Amino acid sequence: MEVYQPMPPYKILTVFGTRPEAIKMAPVVQELNLHPEEFTCRVAVTAQHREMLDQVLRLFHIQPDYDLDIMRPRQTLEEITTRALNGLAGVLKEAQPDLVLVHGDTTTTFVAALAAFYQQIPVGHVEAGLRTGDRYAPFPEEMNRRLAGALTDIHFAPTATARDNLLREGIAPEHVYVTGNTVIDALKATIHDEYHFQAHGLAGLDFEQKRVILVTAHRRENWGEPLREIFTALRDLIHRHPDTALVFPVHYNPRVRQLANEILDGQDRVYLIEPLDYEPFVNLMNRAYLILTDSGGLQEEAPALGKPVLVLREVTERPEAVAAGTVRLVGTAYRDILAAADELLTDRQAYLQMAHAVNPYGDGQASRRIHAGLRYYFGLTVARPQEFQPRASRTKN
Ligand code: UD1
Ligand code: UDP
Repeated sequence: MEVYQPMPPYKILTVFGTRPEAIKMAPVVQELNLHPEEFTCRVAVTAQHREMLDQVLRLFHIQPDYDLDIMRPRQTLEEITTRALNGLAGVLKEAQPDLVLVHGDTTTTFVAALAAFYQQIPVGHVEAGLRTGDRYAPFPEEMNRRLAGALTDIHFAPTATARDNLLREGIAPEHVYVTGNTVIDALKATIHDEYHFQAHGLAGLDFEQKRVILVTAHRRENWGEPLREIFTALRDLIHRHPDTALVFPVHYNPRVRQLANEILDGQDRVYLIEPLDYEPFVNLMNRAYLILTDSGGLQEEAPALGKPVLVLREVTERPEAVAAGTVRLVGTAYRDILAAADELLTDRQAYLQMAHAVNPYGDGQASRRIHAGLRYYFGLTVARPQEFQPRASRTKN
């Protein structure tokens, strides 16, 4: 029987579908494209997100080879799963990749890994091994990440903590590479101290006079009552502190928008704006005083910029910045959010204790390490790549 032996350039198909996956996968696509003699990198997007995905593709000049265009308003998990699975089956048959690369914990991630497994194509998982230990938080991302991990052949863990989670689950150490998080690669390429900030719905906001509190919220487990508590706490917080302004680029999800409009629209010094493109967003983050969020990615980006983060969740799969002191878990209860934010706005010492730049998540070289890991996996080198090691848990801002 003839056994298929792939030859260079090896065909890598990256699959993603949402804003955060695109941001974190873009540096990997760009890195692989620098080595066409080794890898042919194709991109398939499920477009689980549409507008929020497209802005990232534009910024990083990525033109997908396949676009399933699956997004629908108020889509259910079942709809995303079946549409993406059916669509990807056809893409994989046509593209015949030697390896499928997925990222993180979305439903696109899990389904892409499953589709590859069904066609016995090896899977590489970027941002592997993050865990909360609670299968319902974040929901369904914790389970998406575990399921993708079970289907993966080569695990790119961003940190040593993530690697240890995988080893505890019985993954063989030789299949795990600690690379740092590609979010820091993207951030470093996009932050400019001299960035000229255009209005983006923020006309009238005087950055010199107001301390900007930047907020994002979208998690499924926070829909309904938790979001109501979060938004009410934010409204009251802004009332109490006249030298602050709240900037909230509201996720396109109608469930989030409806409640945000009901509670926050029309309030003094509250800017409810459209989701920002990645470049203005991170540069806005760089100017913010304080960040409140239930996002995963912001918990990695904000510490690198020395911005204190209050996380609007009960648990996090990103414990490193909590340990370093720039991120604090506050949950979703009205009183707890108000108390924690009040303290940071009134107690300078408490603020300064949190406001220092830490970089436990990466050094901007994660994509290179992933490229190196793939070279090793395909036998293009005999040297196992060097792993990411955070230099210091705390650096001066
Ligand atoms: C998804 C991911 C979540 C990730 C988040 C990043 C899953 C199950 N969830 O959650 O892990 O943190 O993306 O933002 O994979 N919409 C638009 N335009 C867009 C994007 C979304 O209109 O560009 C609206 C649509 O009505 C859509 C809804 O938002 O149905 C929800 O999108 P969906 O991908 O299902 O869930 P997210 O909450 O965005
Ligand atoms: N982001 C953005 N515009 C916004 C809000 C967030 O570009 O208006 C970026 C942010 O910098 C981060 C990513 O989107 O890189 C986080 O995405 P999200 O919070 O949607 O998903 P999560 O990280 O929670 O999975």
